[in-house]
Amino acid sequence: MERTLILIKPDGVCKGLIGEIIKRLEGEQFKIVGLKMIGLDERKAKEFYQPHQGKPFFPGLIDFMLTAPCVVMVAEGKDVIRRARELIGERIPQKAEVGSIRRNFGSDGRRNIVHGSDSLSSAKREIECFFTSNEVFSYEKEDWLNSEPG
Ligand code: TYD
Ligand code: MG
Repeated sequence: MERTLILIKPDGVCKGLIGEIIKRLEGEQFKIVGLKMIGLDERKAKEFYQPHQGKPFFPGLIDFMLTAPCVVMVAEGKDVIRRARELIGERIPQKAEVGSIRRNFGSDGRRNIVHGSDSLSSAKREIECFFTSNEVFSYEKEDWLNSEPG
């Protein structure tokens, strides 16, 4: 089953959007199988954004990621990588699709509220960056949103 890493960045935490983002994910039937708040240190932030090392925005990005805690989540399901990035929207909030998380809440191309893995291989690497295997859970999700009352 496909898994993705979703990370609520410092601006999302500081804007009080943890619940809003989880609500959107669960409202779209995402199954959350791992969840925690963490304070990144410089080493961890650089490890997470390692593919961007050397780019001009990298130092500013790392500084930003250390300004407040983050919330990291693992979501599991069919096509979750693509579905999460659709819900999140593209990097620059003003260009992101109307109704997406970044369009609704993002400030600019750096402070854009949430991260979602962009491929199977990056999802694997990013999940391993924050979660041990016993912190990712297996359970049966009930589809109560679409079921009859009672
Ligand atoms: P990127 O992988 O291009 O976007 P996404 O978050 O949609 O996968 O970039 C990763 C993060 O790096 C981005 O969310 C914010 C930061 N960034 C900047 O601050 N400035 C930039 O010019 C770029 C390209 C990224
Ligand atoms: Mg990316």
